[in-house]
Amino acid sequence: MVKIAPSILSADFTRLYEEILSVSTADYLHFDVMDGVFVPNISIGLPVLESVRRVTEMTLDVHLMITEPSRFAVKFAESGADIVTFHVESDEPEAIARAITGVHSIGKKVGLALKPATPADAVLPYISLLDMVVVMTVEPGFGGQKFMTEQMPKLKALREMIEAYNPRCELEVDGGVNPETARICVENGASVLVAGSDIFKQADRAARIQELRG
Ligand code: DX5
Ligand code: ZN
Repeated sequence: MVKIAPSILSADFTRLYEEILSVSTADYLHFDVMDGVFVPNISIGLPVLESVRRVTEMTLDVHLMITEPSRFAVKFAESGADIVTFHVESDEPEAIARAITGVHSIGKKVGLALKPATPADAVLPYISLLDMVVVMTVEPGFGGQKFMTEQMPKLKALREMIEAYNPRCELEVDGGVNPETARICVENGASVLVAGSDIFKQADRAARIQELRG
């Protein structure tokens, strides 16, 4: 069954603990980090991750939307992330490879994310090393945007790449997921769905998580 990863970017940060409890039936907790350079927004970082780690045993799926992720990837892994994802466009190939090795060396999982304009082939050099590939179905930076259906051929191509080279790798979709777009993602090979605004605007989050699983 597809895994669901609520994005706390859409949570009420004044009540973050209760918000996390309200989505605890999900599989992962998605944690968006933005530096105002790689994307045109700033969100949350290491001190918040450390606090969240202390209050939940959920798998923390940390999505770094930052430049030069090799400077920080290991730090996020040490601060409580279970999976550290950064963008394949965010640095030179040697630095991306170094960040992957660094996170793995402390026993955590690694994902690589692709912006909408980035072709599937960009992750091919790394595919055998990865635990997750993340297809952005919005321009990264903000919650609540419209799902980009035109990313589905790329999602399907990545599913084929994963089956060919690394079948245990997860394939996550991030952006604009709701019960309708969730179905399309699963049909095209997704194994994990991030959903922020769609879950956190509901009164009954557990019911919505169940609905998103299909
Ligand atoms: C966008 C973030 C997403 C965001 C998704 O840059 O990476 O994780 O929280 O939000 P929704 O589900 O509202 O599109
Ligand atoms: Zn994200």
